[in-house]
Amino acid sequence: MNKIITFTVNGKKRELNVDVRSSLLDVLREIVGMTGAKEGCGVGECGACSVLVDDLLVDSCIYMAVWADGKSIRTVEGECRDGKLSSVQKSYVEKGAVQCGFCTPGFVMASTAFKERFKDKTFTRDDIRREHAGNICRCTGYESIIEAVEQSMEED
Ligand code: FES
Ligand code: FES
Repeated sequence: MNKIITFTVNGKKRELNVDVRSSLLDVLREIVGMTGAKEGCGVGECGACSVLVDDLLVDSCIYMAVWADGKSIRTVEGECRDGKLSSVQKSYVEKGAVQCGFCTPGFVMASTAFKERFKDKTFTRDDIRREHAGNICRCTGYESIIEAVEQSMEED
């Protein structure tokens, strides 16, 4: 069974006819053409598929596309504006927090959510670790990712 849903992806309105069984990840990748979010585990364990729905971090592989009806979706592609990386993206590059890059779109969205949530608040490294606990990286190591988050918190 299909359903027409409407949402915005990175600020652009989309009206789509989707299979009600489709995950948001599949719709983003296969219909919308946003392939930044990746499918790692497909069961909500690795965070490679992380996107923001109404500014909340979700695992899009286990978030039904129909649940996104009327909502605002942000993916890693939308964080780069007018060719300029976001402070989070820039910090990941500068701190060497990327190797193969498979997990990076999900981490960047988790860090973006962290930055927006902890803006103007005090936080610790444990807060960073906890708020990224749903994201797994198999190759970089987490220290450089934590450093990237810390650097991004000092920038606009
Ligand atoms: S692919 Fe969604 S959590 Fe792993
Ligand atoms: S950079 Fe390779 S899995 Fe994280």
